Amino acid sequence: MLILAIESSCDETAAAVSLDGRTILSNVVLSQADMHAVFGGIVPEIASRKHIEGICGVVSEALRIAGVDQHDLDAVGVTYAPGLIGALLVGVNFAKSYALALNKPLIPVHHMRGHIAANYIAFPELEPPFCCLLVSGGHTLLVDVRGYTDLRVLGTTRDDAAGEAFDKAARVLGLPYPGGSELDRLARMGDPHAYKLPRAIVDGAPLDFSFSGLKTAVRNIVHNAQQRGVKLDRAGLASSFCQAVADTLVPRAMEAARLTHATKLAVAGGVAANSFLRSRLTKECADAGLSLYLPPLSLCGDNGAMIACQAYFEYLAGERAGSGLNARATLSIEHGYTL
Ligand code: KG4
Ligand code: ZN
Repeated sequence: MLILAIESSCDETAAAVSLDGRTILSNVVLSQADMHAVFGGIVPEIASRKHIEGICGVVSEALRIAGVDQHDLDAVGVTYAPGLIGALLVGVNFAKSYALALNKPLIPVHHMRGHIAANYIAFPELEPPFCCLLVSGGHTLLVDVRGYTDLRVLGTTRDDAAGEAFDKAARVLGLPYPGGSELDRLARMGDPHAYKLPRAIVDGAPLDFSFSGLKTAVRNIVHNAQQRGVKLDRAGLASSFCQAVADTLVPRAMEAARLTHATKLAVAGGVAANSFLRSRLTKECADAGLSLYLPPLSLCGDNGAMIACQAYFEYLAGERAGSGLNARATLSIEHGYTL
């Protein structure tokens, strides 16, 4: 089954073609990062406009690279939630028109379910059930993946998402947007014990996260150093920050796997590219005898392939949308569209 899928939830205009879900024939990502870097973060209105400019070319390129004629497609998938509403609407409206014109089924895909599916592409043998640590710019979730479309949230953040914390910490450190990967690079040159940073615990919710205190602590250290004229150990602070995030994420992921009797732990989302998180998880999973699934960096950030892969499983589960499909800025990963 050939599926063309479109992703436009944030600042990447992406399209991909999948064959029976896990085989990716093309994966075209047009990043707008440079455009937003000037402003130090994503400007939603610019994101929407750039998606409009880029989407036709990105889709044509995805079909060309896949060597697929649009009439050979079996379905069109699209990210409809969650994300920036104006950005999502560009992909949703394009996909609706495209599916209608070709008379093909339209499959609505939840962006975070797509992130999990990056693991199905990277690891053809991986099947649910497993536990997944989902860490992106907008979400931090521990998910019990019972089936491809049957998911239960075990833990979530009470304030900032992990990626958001990375981006904000990077900004106070004067690093260019997108900050997470820059901060990771700087951190590798520093001492993870250089600064004492908090690790928040959410009372009565051992699998929930909180990152706002950590973000504030970094900001205070930077401002104090500036006010006193003391030289800041930027690499040390970046390194201590990465260590604190890993100390928050990894034990909860291990505990979630233990509580659900999972034998497999998958990781997904932009922050899954973080080197501290990856090496810490590798060690702890080996110690605990847990199989770890870490997608390659190219599949951690937003892309169309993960949506094209998840669209296949949504299709098998009976998910279909009509011309009434709307975008949603927020939506639980547990909710299907029609099911
Ligand atoms: O999943 P994603 O591409 O987009 C969303 O769905 O939000 O995640 C983007 C997030 C950003 O906050 C970015 O700073 C972060 O992932 N990120 C990283 C790294 N690479 C990207 N955070 C930490 N370390 C990295 N190496
Ligand atoms: Zn994402």
